[in-house]
Amino acid sequence: MRKILVTNALPYANGPIHMGHLLGYIQADIWVRAMRAMGHDVTYVCADDAHGTAIMLRAEANGITPEAQIANVQKEHIRDFDGFGVHFDHYDSTNSEENKNRSSEIYIKNREADNIAVRPVKQLFDPEKGMFLSDRFIKGTCPKCKAEDQYGDSCEVCGATYNATELLNPKSTLSGAAPVEKSSDHYFFKLPNFAEYLQKWTRDEGRLPVSIANKLDEWFEAGLNDWDISRDAPYFGFEIPDAPNKYFYVWVDAPIGYMSSFENYIKTKRPELNFEDYWKKDSKNEVYHFIGKDIVYFHALFWPAMLEGANYRTPSGLFVNGFLTVNGQKMSKSRGTFIKAETYLEHLNPEYLRYYFASKLSDKVEDSDLNLDDFVQKVNSDLVGKVVNIASRCAKFINTKFDNKLSATCTEPELVQSFIDAGASIASQYEAREFSAAIREIMALADRANQYIDEKKPWALAKQEGQEQQVHDVCSVGINLFRQLAVYLAPVLPTLAKQVQDFLQLESFDFASRETILVSHEIALFQPLMQRVDPKAVAAMVDASKDSLAAPAAEPAKAEKKKEKKAAPAKVEPKVGEAEIITIDDFVKVDLRVAEVLEAAHVEGSDKLLQLTLNVGEAEPRNVFSGIREFYEPQDLKGKLVVMVANLAPRKMRFGISNGMVLAAGNGEGVWVISPESGAKPGDKVS
Ligand code: MSP
Ligand code: ZN
Repeated sequence: MRKILVTNALPYANGPIHMGHLLGYIQADIWVRAMRAMGHDVTYVCADDAHGTAIMLRAEANGITPEAQIANVQKEHIRDFDGFGVHFDHYDSTNSEENKNRSSEIYIKNREADNIAVRPVKQLFDPEKGMFLSDRFIKGTCPKCKAEDQYGDSCEVCGATYNATELLNPKSTLSGAAPVEKSSDHYFFKLPNFAEYLQKWTRDEGRLPVSIANKLDEWFEAGLNDWDISRDAPYFGFEIPDAPNKYFYVWVDAPIGYMSSFENYIKTKRPELNFEDYWKKDSKNEVYHFIGKDIVYFHALFWPAMLEGANYRTPSGLFVNGFLTVNGQKMSKSRGTFIKAETYLEHLNPEYLRYYFASKLSDKVEDSDLNLDDFVQKVNSDLVGKVVNIASRCAKFINTKFDNKLSATCTEPELVQSFIDAGASIASQYEAREFSAAIREIMALADRANQYIDEKKPWALAKQEGQEQQVHDVCSVGINLFRQLAVYLAPVLPTLAKQVQDFLQLESFDFASRETILVSHEIALFQPLMQRVDPKAVAAMVDASKDSLAAPAAEPAKAEKKKEKKAAPAKVEPKVGEAEIITIDDFVKVDLRVAEVLEAAHVEGSDKLLQLTLNVGEAEPRNVFSGIREFYEPQDLKGKLVVMVANLAPRKMRFGISNGMVLAAGNGEGVWVISPESGAKPGDKVS
């Protein structure tokens, strides 16, 4: 019996669980259940990742303490995982005493091994907020193309990358204040000390998917750098030992949360387990982390290096999932495909999703698509049409005609045995995380079971004289085949499996239990097992997901909302569907008008602006500066009808006064001016 510790990535405590998260959590849960069904001793833990600036600011925006923030979210996360049958043995938080101690210990051991360096770093500091700003909290004018409103690390308009200190007119997105450069001591983990070790480690058998190991080679070739592991106060996290006002960067104590969650599991629920047995350097027990592909860097470089530096064992393997798209695209609130776990559960059976994900997952780091039409079709045809159907076709005869008892002999021992034998390959597919292959094999068996019943036609036999025994035998074989399928599907469909186990009155549903054929066995009354997916419920879920943008998960109370606007990085361009909700009353305040471009010209000294002379049906034409020079030649605009905001307060710019704003669509790659169809006249109201 193997002793295995399994973890999932620790979700951030600042937002709800959504379909994308669930891919990796459901994957791990299926694997854990399958390994247990094969008789291994598996412990499965997780925790909320509670630290960092984002969570600190989120709490501030919600007008609560970080501790209250993470406690609220943790409750929601536990509820959601539970709803999807993702059953952790223990779910902790990285903001625990045990994690603090373990983080200090690992840090100190690394310090003693000369893996820590201290040196000053110059960084932008928000004098109003009294905190250092990471790049995403700084905006300013691009030093290269002069585009305004660009982030501290790169320009979305020209693609230039730079240091935040090079931005022109930098502003803190938190307070609006102009940041000042300030130096402070930072603590570094000397990752290059582990370059050789890691190169070998990442190539160890079974450690990483090969595609990931190849990617890491590129990083090794580029050379590893020291890793900045400290953040200055104010920061929600653990203070670094012997370094007052310096905190561990969230990614230091986050993976250590795997260890401390396991430690707390032992303390509170399994005192007979021994922490050292799993984490000491030469441990024979196995440790696996299921993670998404976006966090490989942390898990394949920093994490094993930190552990090695502190003389602990490193993970036996990293299991990496790709990203989830919905209907072929990135999840989107406006399309209603940013589906929260909570919203799904209000409309659909969680086992549908577990099955659908299982049917897509392999051990490759590939992205998966949740296509909602395909989802309905696959669940209905496979689970309801093929699997559940076998039981409902056979059970009613056993229940009504044979006193709930299966035949005393199995009349198709070879057929049933072939189903039992298939279990060996199905089990190894599960173990190798080739779930889609396992599902294909199980569905091929389901087809054969249905074929058998179709050939024997127990419903026709039942109408014939003297065929009682035949009916009994055929239905008993059918139930035996169904039992095999249910055992094989149990890791994916734990709730359905439990119902089947109760219906068949079986003590065990382990893989090994399937080897005894059921004869003269009493079963319970058949209950419907699974309903078809109703496409209307799917549509309602998508609809509700559109609504959910009106009421984000951690919606602050009205009074606190004002505060949020001030504290949160409000100037950050929201993604579609993430913008602040306005009412129709807000919208009608905007006076949109059709305007004709009378003149368009370059602006001396600006490589961003065009000067437009617009006829808006008023006595005088309007002068408007528009930041579209990179995308339009003046002559292409002349004579064009555009849409403008006509009641915008005049804005004084370096080159003159701008009297309105022209509407354009943009996505970082291009900008397109919005035009009405021909027929509209200058001055027409747009609504
Ligand atoms: N807190 C870190 C992990 C720390 S582990 C020591 C984190 N949290 S997260 O909430 O952003 O993501 C949690 C997990 O969900 C990660 O494995 C991440 O890769 C995964 N996913 C988040 N969005 C996803 C998709 N759209 N698709 C698939 N997985 C996704 O990262
Ligand atoms: Zn630029």
